[in-house]
Amino acid sequence: MAATDLERFSNEEKRNLSLGGHVGFDSLPDQLVSKSVTQGFSFNILCVGETGIGKSTLMNTLFNTTFETEEASHYESVVRLRPRTYDLQESNVHLKLTIVDAVGFGDQINKDESYRPIVEYIDTQFENYLQEELKIRRSLFNYHDTRIHVCLYFITPTGHSLKSLDLVTMKKLDSKVNIIPIIAKADTISKSELHKFKIKVMSELVSNGVQIYQFPTDDEAVAEINSVMNAHLPFAVVGSTEEVKVGNKLVRARQYPWGVVQVENESHCDFVKLREMLIRVNMEDLREQTHTRHYELYRRCKLEEMGFKDTDPDSQPFSLQETYETKRKEFLGELQRKEEEMRQMFVNKVKETEAELKEKERELHEKFEHLKRIHQEEKWKVEEKRKELEEEMNAFNLRRVAVETLQSQSLQATSQQPLKKDKDRKNFFSLPSACSIASGRYVN
Ligand code: GTP
Ligand code: MG
Repeated sequence: MAATDLERFSNEEKRNLSLGGHVGFDSLPDQLVSKSVTQGFSFNILCVGETGIGKSTLMNTLFNTTFETEEASHYESVVRLRPRTYDLQESNVHLKLTIVDAVGFGDQINKDESYRPIVEYIDTQFENYLQEELKIRRSLFNYHDTRIHVCLYFITPTGHSLKSLDLVTMKKLDSKVNIIPIIAKADTISKSELHKFKIKVMSELVSNGVQIYQFPTDDEAVAEINSVMNAHLPFAVVGSTEEVKVGNKLVRARQYPWGVVQVENESHCDFVKLREMLIRVNMEDLREQTHTRHYELYRRCKLEEMGFKDTDPDSQPFSLQETYETKRKEFLGELQRKEEEMRQMFVNKVKETEAELKEKERELHEKFEHLKRIHQEEKWKVEEKRKELEEEMNAFNLRRVAVETLQSQSLQATSQQPLKKDKDRKNFFSLPSACSIASGRYVN
């Protein structure tokens, strides 16, 4: 259909017609209810509050059951998010309830980053949903929606003011989740102190610009009760699953030596108000707000980050196809540039390594030549030494032979007749002298 046809069609006046009889589309709301009931509902609660503040007890009290609990230690090095999902049924309505505990919140010495894991957890659930939405084959019908619908923020009943950790955390969370602040263990604070504390908490939230969830007042059916309840925030609650006999009735309460605090007694605490507002009246609004406000904001920012826009700079509608093509071209260009950069880097690296190797080879060759020269010189020296030693050995041998001859002759002479002594002495003196024999001049 051409754009002008479309405009004409949408500008056409709608005409009211009356029906001749019952057609049946008045059953649409019933069809919707029936479909939703068959499908079941999911509701996800995030509990943020310091260790031992009464989060698990309150959850058990709210849903009148016993959820799995694990006491947290005070030694967690970081805040850890622990989700647990349960299937609950009331009448014929199925509720997939997820309770997420911020384990170790407030236990670190440095609490600057305590809010971060909580924010990351909430964003991850939004991201998972967005990824499912962006799939070509979406299955949102049976998708387990894990987005956080409400954050119950447990305030310690100090009677003074909010801690900076509370303010920082709530401020970081308020654009991502519906926050309902509650004063925990409200039985540990007196009535007048509680009244002042509530006023103080609210004024601090307002002065720090923290947006907490407001029960909706646009639906006439609940406008009155919701506006009354908005004035009661933050709810001061007491949790207990212990049953105590009051009169002839068993009620959930906390028993003390001086009396009994009844959980469901509205003059004792705001537990009933919280249950009414959270479960009976506004559960669907919390789910809706999560989808239409918080998730929408996340989705918008994420898509804008990815380069998608509804309008171009001239405020003309922007086509998704065009954005995709532009982004694709940008991406491919960038990829090519990176590839070229890497190739160049690789070539340079190879050249550098080659030059280094050549230099090393040259050095080794020089070293080898040097060693070869030294070896040759050593060889010559040893050769000369050997010749000298050989000459010395020859001279020595000659001397040894001469001495031996001399010795044998003198032995012969001593063994002759004494008469012959004179003659022999004469002969002896006529022989070449010992010195001339020793010097090698005597030859036989
Ligand atoms: P972690 O999960 O370990 O962080 O603790 P938690 O916040 O879940 O607290 P939990 O419900 O385990 O309660 C801790 C202690 O506080 C228990 O001894 C509870 O009985 C007690 N407690 C819970 N709710 C209240 C309350 O409303 N008033 C008082 N006085 N004590 C409470
Ligand atoms: Mg707990």
